[in-house]
Amino acid sequence: MELHVSLVGRRDLVGQIYGQLRAAILDGRLRAGEALPPTRELARRLAISRNTVGVAYDRLAAEGFLTSRVGAGTFVRETGSAARGAPASSPLRPRKVWDDVSAWPGRMPKIRWDFRAGLPDVTLFPYEPWRRIVAGLLRPSGLAEPASAGDPAGLPALREAIARHVGVSRSVRASGHDIVVTAGIQQALDLIVRVLLEPGDVVAVEDPGYPPVRMLLTAAGMRVRGVPVDAEGLRVDALPGDARAVYVTPSHQFPLGMPMSLPRRRALLDWARRRDVVIVEDDYDTEYRYGGRPVEPLQSLDEDGRVLYTGTFSKIMRPVLRLGFLVAPPSLHRAFRMARYVTSWHAELPAQAALARFIDEGLLARHIRRSRREYRARHERVAELVEGPLGDRLALVPSEAGLHLSATLTGGTDDAAVAAKALGAGIGLFALSEFAVSGPSAPGLVFGYGAVTPPEIDAGMRRLRTVLG
Ligand SMILES: Cc1ncc(COP(=O)(O)O)c(C=O)c1O
Repeated sequence: MELHVSLVGRRDLVGQIYGQLRAAILDGRLRAGEALPPTRELARRLAISRNTVGVAYDRLAAEGFLTSRVGAGTFVRETGSAARGAPASSPLRPRKVWDDVSAWPGRMPKIRWDFRAGLPDVTLFPYEPWRRIVAGLLRPSGLAEPASAGDPAGLPALREAIARHVGVSRSVRASGHDIVVTAGIQQALDLIVRVLLEPGDVVAVEDPGYPPVRMLLTAAGMRVRGVPVDAEGLRVDALPGDARAVYVTPSHQFPLGMPMSLPRRRALLDWARRRDVVIVEDDYDTEYRYGGRPVEPLQSLDEDGRVLYTGTFSKIMRPVLRLGFLVAPPSLHRAFRMARYVTSWHAELPAQAALARFIDEGLLARHIRRSRREYRARHERVAELVEGPLGDRLALVPSEAGLHLSATLTGGTDDAAVAAKALGAGIGLFALSEFAVSGPSAPGLVFGYGAVTPPEIDAGMRRLRTVLG
């Protein structure tokens, strides 16, 4: 990078150059080993004599800031200085609401066995076909630059492809026009809040439930109310009467894992219709389904147009792609498009074009089939070990989908203490209590198997056996 040096007037030019370079070295903008511009070049840039620059360099070298190597140039020496930051003192303070939002999940030290929920296996990612498609697009002929910015709702080819994908695999009712491409489900929720809710609105969420959505709702000034779940999913009879919206994970309750039963889905839709409430359906990982009969999404059972369906490529592809979508009824199309526009214009076009092609060429379906086989083996292995060698301490929550399984701890054990002890033994996993909203939840552990291979599952669970005693 070229360092910015500026001169004022014609006095003490050596001192001015010396002072600016010294400050840049001390505050870390120029790092040890970095080359300074040759004296001739800097002199030309500043329209001064080369000798003046040379004298400034000599002074810095004499003080130990620079070193010269004949024929190679002048370089910054190690000074042990601290890096420069923004002004440390400032009168600016965040709004109060940000005191109530804490990061999740917390950082973990290096983990030997990583059973944290939410991580897919990066080695299963279809690198070769993805690379081929991206390389084909990153040519002048590959990705024609649109005349103006892209469509805020997403690249039309991708919206069409997503509509077909969710229509076929999940019977979601959508055409390409109904799809808004987002940076994951998290942004889909952000858009929903902006378009449909007012600060102070009550939003009901599952308890236990997915913390990032709660963080978002809290940050947007919503009043978040936890609603207990049972073996059939969200307890509709416990919904708060003043809720404006309900956020649910009916295909695979997060974090427990059971699906919402069909009668419960109908009850929720009926409840929402009578009270004119928005339903947000988060369907984050049920491309991975290993058995049982899939139940219709709320969105396709709904005859009223009040369900907003959200999906993501974070699990089937990778979370780092930041690509997801929402399905909206026509009455909301314009507002969603505008909300996407004013917040971030549109998702990155090359990634959208690549994903559209990936779906259209049948590669997504093939990748899901292959990775499902692998994850099914892991799912079954975790279930076997929880029910077998760990069965005296853990009771498995029945689940037939996704990338994690949950189990309750028998005997009222403090699950956070167990998770902390496990971490000390090199096992990273979440305690169920970390997902509690208001209630005390049943103590338990969540086993994500997306990022752990079968041999590592065996070894990690053996280690957990010793942790549980
Ligand atoms: C319940 C739930 N919703 C959504 C997501 C995915 O969010 P995103 O699409 O923002 O990556 C996850 C990922 O872990 C999740 O567990």
